[in-house]
Amino acid sequence: MKNLANKKILFVICGGIAAYKSLELIRLFRKNKATIKTILTKSAKKFVTPLSIASLSQGKVYEDLFSTENELEMDHISLSRWADVIIVAPVTANTISKLATGNAEDLASTVILASNKQVYLAPAMNVRMWEHKSTKDNLKNLRSYGYKLIGPVTGDMACGEYGDGKMSDPIDIFNEIQNFLTARKKNKKIRALVTAGPTNEYIDPVRFISNKSSGKQGYEIAKSLHKRGFDTTLISGPTNLDIDQEIKLIKVETADEMFKATQQNLPTDIAVFSAAVSDFKINIKSKDKIKKEENLNIKLEKNIDILNYISNHNSMRPKLVIGFAAETKNLNSNAIKKLKNKNCDWIVANDVSKKNIGFDSDFNEVTIHYNDFKEKKETLSYKKKSEISEEIVDRIVTQMN
Ligand code: CTP
Repeated sequence: MKNLANKKILFVICGGIAAYKSLELIRLFRKNKATIKTILTKSAKKFVTPLSIASLSQGKVYEDLFSTENELEMDHISLSRWADVIIVAPVTANTISKLATGNAEDLASTVILASNKQVYLAPAMNVRMWEHKSTKDNLKNLRSYGYKLIGPVTGDMACGEYGDGKMSDPIDIFNEIQNFLTARKKNKKIRALVTAGPTNEYIDPVRFISNKSSGKQGYEIAKSLHKRGFDTTLISGPTNLDIDQEIKLIKVETADEMFKATQQNLPTDIAVFSAAVSDFKINIKSKDKIKKEENLNIKLEKNIDILNYISNHNSMRPKLVIGFAAETKNLNSNAIKKLKNKNCDWIVANDVSKKNIGFDSDFNEVTIHYNDFKEKKETLSYKKKSEISEEIVDRIVTQMN
């Protein structure tokens, strides 16, 4: 078994007969030297006691936010920051519903909502509750927010029925999270760089030309890389987006600034070029605001192609170079041309002429083209940009490990 010393696990135990299985789960983590803190919901206390959890986990047990001295001792933000991973086992239909709607009415839901860490959910409930459309809809939302599900499995239930809804075996939950934590530890040594957003190329101090881009897909990729432990740098053109403070963010405005920042952050192991870099800049930028008296003729000159430059950089070429291709027609053939011409390992193509994906949308549908001799491609079907980025990063993790 792999050693989990220095790994901090925050358990959340909800009410349900499966709560007794969380004792075994805690025992497995303790056996592997993980540090554990636990939150018990009000109804969990009907099934397991704070004392049994404290003795087994040798860590603090927190109860409801407003009922004890816990509130003075810690705040929900620091508890969620403390953890490397949060495991909610068992998670009930009620807590699933709360998390899906962002309802933070007790300590458990408040901590989870405030978390920037990977949250695993191990559901346990009656088969009818599990199969109910509302539970399915809630889970769909939770997946799109980045929560990961483990189980449930099929079997006999405490209520006498048979079907889906049984909490997974503690050893299966343990194995999945242990794999996540050990992969994360390895990834910490791997550097990743992401470019995102548009660039602005100034005509005079108040006017510029730019590209249409919200930066959302690139920011989501940076978030997913960071969550998996990669040492992540995000170089961003002007956007309205926020990013986790633990991700190194370099804000730039022009293509030249983006290029300089990229060079300054080499070497890197992975480079994802999702920025919509303006292909042209103004030949001679006016120092003063141009008056509108006459027609304006501006001369444009080509910007440096950052991706092309970096992917052909002899000594500093990242091990994995991923480009994006925003196309309005001939999606596949144009993407393959870019893949070859720009010497990328992969190119992620999306059709920006479709209104329901790309640019400002929270959704996307992309095709990844791989630059191997089989010219393999894979389509990631229509879903949230956060889910697309998780799927891209799944493939990056496989490639890098
Ligand atoms: N790119 C870059 N630097 C540039 C232009 C593009 O790094 N000056 C990168 C983008 O971040 C993207 C890829 O190149 O990963 C393709 O960008 P795209 O705008 O789709 O294509 P262009 O190369 O600009 O070609 P065209 O505009 O003719 O389609």
